[in-house]
Amino acid sequence: MSFDYRDGALYAEQCSLSELASQYGTPLYVYSHQRILENWRQFAAHWPAPHKLCYAVKANSNLAVLNVLAQLGAGFDIVSGGELARVLAAGGKAQDVVFSGVAKSRAEMAYALEQGIYCFNVESAAELERLNEVAKAHGAAAPVSLRVNPDVDAQTHPYISTGLKSNKFGIAMAQAREVALRAQSLSHIKMQGLDCHIGSQILSPAPFLDAADLMLQLIEQLRGDGVAISHLDMGGGMGIPYQHESELDVSAYLLELQKRAARVGNLTLMLEPGRAIVGNAGVLLTRVEYHKPGVDKDFLLVDAGMNDLMRPALYQAYHDIIPVQQCEAGTSIVDVVGPVCETGDFLGHARHITANEGDLLAVMNAGAYGFTMSSNYNTRPRAAEVMVAGASAQVVRQRETLSELWKGEQIMEMPE
Ligand code: LLP
Repeated sequence: MSFDYRDGALYAEQCSLSELASQYGTPLYVYSHQRILENWRQFAAHWPAPHKLCYAVKANSNLAVLNVLAQLGAGFDIVSGGELARVLAAGGKAQDVVFSGVAKSRAEMAYALEQGIYCFNVESAAELERLNEVAKAHGAAAPVSLRVNPDVDAQTHPYISTGLKSNKFGIAMAQAREVALRAQSLSHIKMQGLDCHIGSQILSPAPFLDAADLMLQLIEQLRGDGVAISHLDMGGGMGIPYQHESELDVSAYLLELQKRAARVGNLTLMLEPGRAIVGNAGVLLTRVEYHKPGVDKDFLLVDAGMNDLMRPALYQAYHDIIPVQQCEAGTSIVDVVGPVCETGDFLGHARHITANEGDLLAVMNAGAYGFTMSSNYNTRPRAAEVMVAGASAQVVRQRETLSELWKGEQIMEMPE
């Protein structure tokens, strides 16, 4: 375990979380280097070359996290020009990058072409035409995978379900053949593969494998039509337990995918895991400002809010919240809420936590879609981020200062 108690105090690897909080302040994101390595290796061990793993940058895009993964030989799944720039700044290679995203701009396409990415995951017929034009202007051929929407129900939260035909993502299965034939015929497009991503936080292999079967059928059909398909990218979506859910058996899923793909043959497989690599590798440390007895229930008012960790407010997501200094389990039930002026600003409802002003709490499994979704709402500087490796800890992002928050703003000069 990367986060566990020693003599009643919570540690990240060999570092005391209460010392980190004293040194760097709260709210504070703390990441475990070891946990990231182990999570990555769990995938890599069952994914022999030429199969590729492209870490989904949106889950946690801190340069230190990207650098750890680049050193492990990771590829990257990006959704913006900004994410590509981050990957390059962190030491990742453009040739290991796949570019997802429903509304790529011309400028983003041009930048990615100039950098020489591995492929564009194209999400519509219109995007394909635009990419062909941009590639033509660059005198290049754009490597392309078509994102197909297999219309399978991933049975996850509606906001993070992406593979239904009612979602905005990908090309409908019924139109895939037509778009693929068009791609094959365009002068500056090099058809390379197919991809899909059916949603996030999925804990059963069944929807992934249903989608894979549909994608493999389509590949056989397209190959019959003379379309060259050398890879299948099954996207991300592999979930982690946040509460009492049973874990997804990653190795079984990976092996079964390879078995099914082998029946079709000559196919490089790809995955884009995000949450599964960093989710349980991070915690958010927060300090209790007040304990406020209420009429029906008590509140713990803490110094981290929805602007620091948006998942509870946005998806009613559950995150374990535990004391950094263990204490006798109390009987009191509290809502753990933040300082932001919104009723939706909570980190946890109806929790058994006994804590008082000044105590530290750790919000668990906050490594994915934590800092990356944070904002400056209520003019709150974003939290600092620390990475721990064994007994050493290093700030990998400074806490924002107030003046940084209004950098670029200006008071309007009114005409006389
Ligand atoms: N590939 C594509 C094309 C994606 O859209 C995503 C995530 C991933 C890969 C990585 O998915 P993962 O392995 O992390 O599930 N903010 C939400 C999750 C949104 C996921 C969006 N797409 C949350 O906090 O639960």
